[in-house]
Amino acid sequence: MGANLKIAFLVIAALVALCAIGLATAADDAGKKSSLAAFHEMVKVLNHPRCMNCHTTADWPTQGDDRHRHAFNVVRGPEDKGPPGMRCTTCHQDKNQDAANIPGARDWHMATRAQGWTGLAPGALCAALLDPKKNGGLTGDGVIAHIKNDRLVLWAWSPGKRATPPLSHKQFVTASQAWLKNGAHCPTP
Ligand code: HEC
Ligand code: HEC
Repeated sequence: MGANLKIAFLVIAALVALCAIGLATAADDAGKKSSLAAFHEMVKVLNHPRCMNCHTTADWPTQGDDRHRHAFNVVRGPEDKGPPGMRCTTCHQDKNQDAANIPGARDWHMATRAQGWTGLAPGALCAALLDPKKNGGLTGDGVIAHIKNDRLVLWAWSPGKRATPPLSHKQFVTASQAWLKNGAHCPTP
Protein backbone atom coordinates (compact mmCIF):
# COMPACT_ATOMS: atom_id res chain seq x y z
CA MET A 1 0.00 0.00 0.00
CA GLY A 2 1.34 3.47 -0.88
CA ALA A 3 1.74 6.04 1.89
CA ASN A 4 -1.05 8.19 0.48
CA LEU A 5 -3.44 5.28 0.33
CA LYS A 6 -2.57 4.36 3.91
CA ILE A 7 -3.31 7.90 5.09
CA ALA A 8 -6.59 7.95 3.14
CA PHE A 9 -7.54 4.64 4.74
CA LEU A 10 -6.76 5.93 8.24
CA VAL A 11 -8.74 9.11 7.64
CA ILE A 12 -11.77 7.09 6.48
CA ALA A 13 -11.48 4.76 9.49
CA ALA A 14 -11.34 7.76 11.82
CA LEU A 15 -14.40 9.34 10.16
CA VAL A 16 -16.37 6.10 10.49
CA ALA A 17 -15.44 5.89 14.19
CA LEU A 18 -16.48 9.50 14.78
CA CYS A 19 -19.80 8.87 13.05
CA ALA A 20 -20.43 5.84 15.25
CA ILE A 21 -19.73 7.88 18.40
CA GLY A 22 -21.99 10.63 17.09
CA LEU A 23 -24.81 8.16 16.45
CA ALA A 24 -24.39 6.54 19.85
CA THR A 25 -24.52 9.96 21.54
CA ALA A 26 -27.61 10.90 19.54
CA ALA A 27 -29.25 7.60 20.60
CA ASP A 28 -28.34 8.29 24.26
CA ASP A 29 -29.83 11.78 24.02
CA ALA A 30 -33.02 10.44 22.43
CA GLY A 31 -33.22 7.74 25.14
CA LYS A 32 -32.79 10.28 27.90
CA LYS A 33 -35.43 12.51 26.35
CA SER A 34 -37.93 9.62 26.10
CA SER A 35 -37.16 8.53 29.65
CA LEU A 36 -37.71 12.02 31.08
CA ALA A 37 -40.91 12.49 29.05
CA ALA A 38 -42.20 9.15 30.40
CA PHE A 39 -41.36 10.15 33.98
CA HIS A 40 -43.23 13.42 33.46
CA GLU A 41 -46.33 11.29 32.71
CA MET A 42 -45.69 9.03 35.71
CA VAL A 43 -45.60 12.04 38.05
CA LYS A 44 -49.22 12.88 37.14
CA VAL A 45 -50.20 9.61 38.81
CA LEU A 46 -47.59 9.47 41.59
CA ASN A 47 -48.60 12.94 42.81
CA HIS A 48 -52.32 12.18 42.63
CA PRO A 49 -54.19 12.21 45.97
CA ARG A 50 -55.24 8.53 45.49
CA CYS A 51 -51.54 7.65 45.88
CA MET A 52 -50.32 10.54 48.04
CA ASN A 53 -52.91 9.97 50.78
CA CYS A 54 -51.02 6.79 51.79
CA HIS A 55 -47.54 7.99 50.78
CA THR A 56 -47.12 10.76 53.36
CA THR A 57 -44.10 11.67 55.46
CA ALA A 58 -46.48 12.67 58.26
CA ASP A 59 -47.50 10.57 61.23
CA TRP A 60 -50.91 9.97 59.65
CA PRO A 61 -52.51 9.18 56.31
CA THR A 62 -54.51 11.88 54.56
CA GLN A 63 -57.92 11.88 52.87
CA GLY A 64 -59.79 13.36 49.97
CA ASP A 65 -58.60 15.34 46.97
CA ASP A 66 -57.36 18.11 49.26
CA ARG A 67 -55.29 15.58 51.24
CA HIS A 68 -56.54 16.68 54.64
CA ARG A 69 -55.56 14.82 57.77
CA HIS A 70 -57.40 11.50 58.24
CA ALA A 71 -60.44 11.76 60.54
CA PHE A 72 -60.75 10.04 63.95
CA ASN A 73 -57.14 10.95 64.88
CA VAL A 74 -55.90 7.96 62.92
CA VAL A 75 -52.10 7.70 63.20
CA ARG A 76 -49.37 5.69 61.46
CA GLY A 77 -48.46 3.47 64.45
CA PRO A 78 -45.28 1.41 64.80
CA GLU A 79 -45.74 -0.66 61.60
CA ASP A 80 -47.62 1.88 59.48
CA LYS A 81 -50.80 -0.13 60.13
CA GLY A 82 -52.25 1.97 62.93
CA PRO A 83 -51.56 1.38 66.64
CA PRO A 84 -52.94 -1.74 68.36
CA GLY A 85 -56.62 -1.09 69.01
CA MET A 86 -56.95 1.30 66.05
CA ARG A 87 -55.63 -0.79 63.18
CA CYS A 88 -56.36 0.41 59.65
CA THR A 89 -58.09 -2.90 58.99
CA THR A 90 -60.55 -2.27 61.85
CA CYS A 91 -62.36 0.00 59.40
CA HIS A 92 -60.80 -0.76 56.00
CA GLN A 93 -61.95 -4.17 54.70
CA ASP A 94 -60.64 -6.20 51.75
CA LYS A 95 -63.05 -4.34 49.46
CA ASN A 96 -64.56 -0.87 49.31
CA GLN A 97 -67.57 -0.55 51.62
CA ASP A 98 -69.68 1.43 49.22
CA ALA A 99 -72.55 2.29 51.58
CA ALA A 100 -70.21 4.09 54.00
CA ASN A 101 -67.73 5.07 51.24
CA ILE A 102 -64.84 3.43 53.14
CA PRO A 103 -62.07 2.46 50.74
CA GLY A 104 -60.72 -1.08 51.01
CA ALA A 105 -58.19 -3.58 49.68
CA ARG A 106 -56.40 -6.50 51.33
CA ASP A 107 -54.08 -5.50 54.23
CA TRP A 108 -54.84 -1.79 53.88
CA HIS A 109 -52.08 0.32 55.46
CA MET A 110 -49.89 3.28 54.69
CA ALA A 111 -46.45 3.34 53.08
CA THR A 112 -43.42 3.74 55.39
CA ARG A 113 -42.14 7.22 56.18
CA ALA A 114 -39.17 6.64 53.82
CA GLN A 115 -41.72 5.87 51.09
CA GLY A 116 -43.50 9.16 51.82
CA TRP A 117 -43.49 11.58 48.90
CA THR A 118 -44.92 14.67 50.62
CA GLY A 119 -43.48 17.84 49.08
CA LEU A 120 -40.94 16.05 46.87
CA ALA A 121 -40.09 17.76 43.56
CA PRO A 122 -40.19 15.35 40.58
CA GLY A 123 -36.40 14.82 40.65
CA ALA A 124 -36.40 13.89 44.33
CA LEU A 125 -39.46 11.69 43.91
CA CYS A 126 -37.72 9.89 41.03
CA ALA A 127 -34.55 9.37 43.12
CA ALA A 128 -36.62 8.07 46.05
CA LEU A 129 -38.41 5.57 43.78
CA LEU A 130 -35.05 4.20 42.64
CA ASP A 131 -33.39 4.11 46.07
CA PRO A 132 -33.52 0.55 47.48
CA LYS A 133 -32.87 1.97 50.97
CA LYS A 134 -36.14 3.90 50.72
CA ASN A 135 -38.35 1.83 48.44
CA GLY A 136 -38.14 -1.42 50.41
CA GLY A 137 -35.19 -2.98 48.55
CA LEU A 138 -36.70 -2.85 45.07
CA THR A 139 -34.71 -2.74 41.82
CA GLY A 140 -36.07 -0.88 38.78
CA ASP A 141 -37.87 -4.03 37.61
CA GLY A 142 -39.32 -4.50 41.09
CA VAL A 143 -40.72 -0.97 41.03
CA ILE A 144 -42.40 -1.67 37.69
CA ALA A 145 -43.79 -5.01 38.94
CA HIS A 146 -45.24 -3.23 41.97
CA ILE A 147 -46.80 -0.52 39.81
CA LYS A 148 -48.25 -3.17 37.52
CA ASN A 149 -49.67 -5.64 40.03
CA ASP A 150 -49.96 -4.27 43.57
CA ARG A 151 -53.49 -4.31 44.95
CA LEU A 152 -53.13 -0.90 46.66
CA VAL A 153 -51.87 0.68 43.42
CA LEU A 154 -54.74 -0.93 41.50
CA TRP A 155 -57.25 0.33 44.08
CA ALA A 156 -56.54 3.90 42.87
CA TRP A 157 -58.43 3.02 39.67
CA SER A 158 -61.47 1.65 41.51
CA PRO A 159 -61.64 3.98 44.50
CA GLY A 160 -65.42 4.05 45.03
CA LYS A 161 -66.89 7.54 44.77
CA ARG A 162 -63.51 9.20 44.31
CA ALA A 163 -61.62 10.65 41.36
CA THR A 164 -59.15 8.35 39.59
CA PRO A 165 -55.68 9.46 38.41
CA PRO A 166 -55.52 11.34 35.07
CA LEU A 167 -53.88 8.41 33.21
CA SER A 168 -55.40 4.94 32.90
CA HIS A 169 -53.55 2.19 34.77
CA LYS A 170 -52.41 0.81 31.41
CA GLN A 171 -51.00 4.20 30.34
CA PHE A 172 -49.25 4.50 33.70
CA VAL A 173 -47.62 1.07 33.32
CA THR A 174 -46.59 1.84 29.72
CA ALA A 175 -45.00 5.15 30.80
CA SER A 176 -43.20 3.43 33.70
CA GLN A 177 -41.80 0.74 31.40
CA ALA A 178 -40.63 3.37 28.88
CA TRP A 179 -38.98 5.36 31.69
CA LEU A 180 -37.03 2.32 32.89
CA LYS A 181 -36.19 0.91 29.45
CA ASN A 182 -34.70 4.24 28.36
CA GLY A 183 -32.39 4.46 31.35
CA ALA A 184 -34.59 5.52 34.31
CA HIS A 185 -33.43 9.13 34.03
CA CYS A 186 -34.51 11.59 36.71
CA PRO A 187 -35.31 15.25 36.10
CA THR A 188 -33.21 17.90 37.86
CA PRO A 189 -33.89 18.93 40.53
C1 HEC B 1 -53.78 2.22 50.99
C2 HEC B 1 -52.50 2.84 50.93
C3 HEC B 1 -51.76 2.96 49.61
C4 HEC B 1 -52.23 3.49 48.43
C5 HEC B 1 -53.63 4.00 48.14
C6 HEC B 1 -51.10 3.47 47.52
N1 HEC B 1 -50.02 2.92 48.11
FE1 HEC B 1 -48.17 2.64 47.26
N2 HEC B 1 -47.57 1.65 48.92
C7 HEC B 1 -48.31 1.43 50.05
C8 HEC B 1 -47.59 0.56 50.94
C9 HEC B 1 -48.07 0.05 52.28
C10 HEC B 1 -46.36 0.26 50.31
C11 HEC B 1 -45.23 -0.64 50.82
C12 HEC B 1 -45.33 -1.99 50.21
C13 HEC B 1 -46.45 -2.81 50.81
O1 HEC B 1 -46.45 -3.00 52.04
O2 HEC B 1 -47.34 -3.24 50.05
C14 HEC B 1 -46.38 0.95 49.04
C15 HEC B 1 -45.34 0.91 48.13
C16 HEC B 1 -45.35 1.53 46.89
C17 HEC B 1 -44.26 1.53 45.96
C18 HEC B 1 -42.92 0.85 46.14
C19 HEC B 1 -42.10 1.54 47.17
C20 HEC B 1 -41.63 2.90 46.76
O3 HEC B 1 -41.68 3.82 47.61
O4 HEC B 1 -41.20 3.07 45.61
C21 HEC B 1 -44.65 2.22 44.87
C22 HEC B 1 -43.86 2.49 43.60
C23 HEC B 1 -46.02 2.65 45.11
N3 HEC B 1 -46.42 2.22 46.36
C24 HEC B 1 -46.79 3.34 44.21
C25 HEC B 1 -48.11 3.73 44.43
C26 HEC B 1 -48.93 4.40 43.44
C27 HEC B 1 -48.45 4.81 42.06
C28 HEC B 1 -50.16 4.57 43.99
C29 HEC B 1 -51.37 5.20 43.38
C30 HEC B 1 -51.72 4.80 42.03
C31 HEC B 1 -50.10 3.99 45.34
N4 HEC B 1 -48.85 3.50 45.56
C32 HEC B 1 -51.17 3.95 46.22
C33 HEC B 1 -49.54 1.96 50.32
C34 HEC B 1 -50.37 2.58 49.39
C1 HEC C 1 -62.11 4.37 62.60
C2 HEC C 1 -62.12 3.89 61.23
C3 HEC C 1 -60.87 4.09 60.41
C4 HEC C 1 -59.57 3.74 60.73
C5 HEC C 1 -59.04 3.10 62.01
C6 HEC C 1 -58.78 4.08 59.58
N1 HEC C 1 -59.57 4.62 58.61
FE1 HEC C 1 -58.95 5.34 56.79
N2 HEC C 1 -60.84 5.94 56.36
C7 HEC C 1 -61.94 5.71 57.13
C8 HEC C 1 -63.11 6.26 56.49
C9 HEC C 1 -64.54 6.22 57.01
C10 HEC C 1 -62.66 6.84 55.28
C11 HEC C 1 -63.49 7.53 54.21
C12 HEC C 1 -63.65 8.95 54.54
C13 HEC C 1 -64.37 9.68 53.41
O1 HEC C 1 -63.86 9.62 52.27
O2 HEC C 1 -65.37 10.29 53.68
C14 HEC C 1 -61.22 6.61 55.24
C15 HEC C 1 -60.42 7.03 54.21
C16 HEC C 1 -59.06 6.75 54.12
C17 HEC C 1 -58.22 7.16 53.04
C18 HEC C 1 -58.64 8.09 51.93
C19 HEC C 1 -58.60 7.61 50.53
C20 HEC C 1 -58.63 8.78 49.60
O3 HEC C 1 -57.86 8.77 48.66
O4 HEC C 1 -59.41 9.72 49.80
C21 HEC C 1 -56.97 6.66 53.27
C22 HEC C 1 -55.74 6.81 52.43
C23 HEC C 1 -57.04 5.93 54.51
N3 HEC C 1 -58.32 6.02 55.01
C24 HEC C 1 -55.98 5.30 55.08
C25 HEC C 1 -56.00 4.75 56.36
C26 HEC C 1 -54.85 4.15 56.99
C27 HEC C 1 -53.50 3.99 56.34
C28 HEC C 1 -55.23 3.75 58.24
C29 HEC C 1 -54.39 3.14 59.33
C30 HEC C 1 -53.16 3.84 59.67
C31 HEC C 1 -56.65 4.12 58.36
N4 HEC C 1 -57.07 4.71 57.21
C32 HEC C 1 -57.41 3.87 59.50
C33 HEC C 1 -61.95 5.08 58.35
C34 HEC C 1 -60.85 4.63 59.06
